Amino acid sequence: QAKLVETSKRLAAFQAVKDYLLPEYTRIGIGSGSTVVYVVEAISELGSAVTSKMAFYPTGSQSEELIEAAGLNLQYISKLPAGQQLDVAFDGADEVDDDLNLIKGGGACLWQEKIVAASAKQFVCVADFRKLSTRLGMAWKKGIPIEVLPMAAPRVLGELQRMGSQNPRIRPGLPGKAGAIVTDNGMWIIDAPFPPLLLPKDIEAGSQTGNSTAGVWTVDALADALIKIPGVAEIGLFYGKNGLQLASGAQKPVAAYF
Ligand code: A5P
Repeated sequence: QAKLVETSKRLAAFQAVKDYLLPEYTRIGIGSGSTVVYVVEAISELGSAVTSKMAFYPTGSQSEELIEAAGLNLQYISKLPAGQQLDVAFDGADEVDDDLNLIKGGGACLWQEKIVAASAKQFVCVADFRKLSTRLGMAWKKGIPIEVLPMAAPRVLGELQRMGSQNPRIRPGLPGKAGAIVTDNGMWIIDAPFPPLLLPKDIEAGSQTGNSTAGVWTVDALADALIKIPGVAEIGLFYGKNGLQLASGAQKPVAAYF
């Protein structure tokens, strides 16, 4: 199984780069996680004649190291002039639903990932077959990653319980390290499990209401409610009406590769 997963990640990454990294592009976002390693490998294989004209924008410290180790030009989103955009951003995901809504943040990099994705005209999701799911929460059981200001964490946990999250938890640090995991931004992560998130087509089908009464939410309603909690810096729901908008106005990945 492990070998199959790695092969799946690699094939998806090489295909995504082949289809969506055009030689004329100059600004490329590089996400975080183990799948993106293969994206960078595929980009490196294009050779310096192609890549030397490109700048690569990381989504955190792991991604930054990856870009540097591959000898690609590192650039920072904080240096992107106002009003300018990345041509494309590639990133992994923890789960992808029928409508290409994503859960991200399993690696605690969601905040910078969302900023880089929102700066891009196109977003390409690269993931192995385990991530494909009909509704968010069906395959990824750990909950929605939520980046919070540490002093707000107890209150945010209370709010999440009130909203119907089943046992939301502050993500612990690495084994042997006491305390919570600290993100690249000095924040903590809360993982908040909810029942599978509904899509507009579920509401149209009429059997569900999509409101908060039983902790059953649509992706859009939940994203909207979570981002409004004081102390929440960013949420690991990407896309959907309240999840994220790209620089092009699009609200979902241009493609997802598995
Ligand atoms: C990082 O915070 C995440 O959003 C990653 O993109 C996601 O966890 C995918 O990681 P893998 O490629 O390692 O599964």
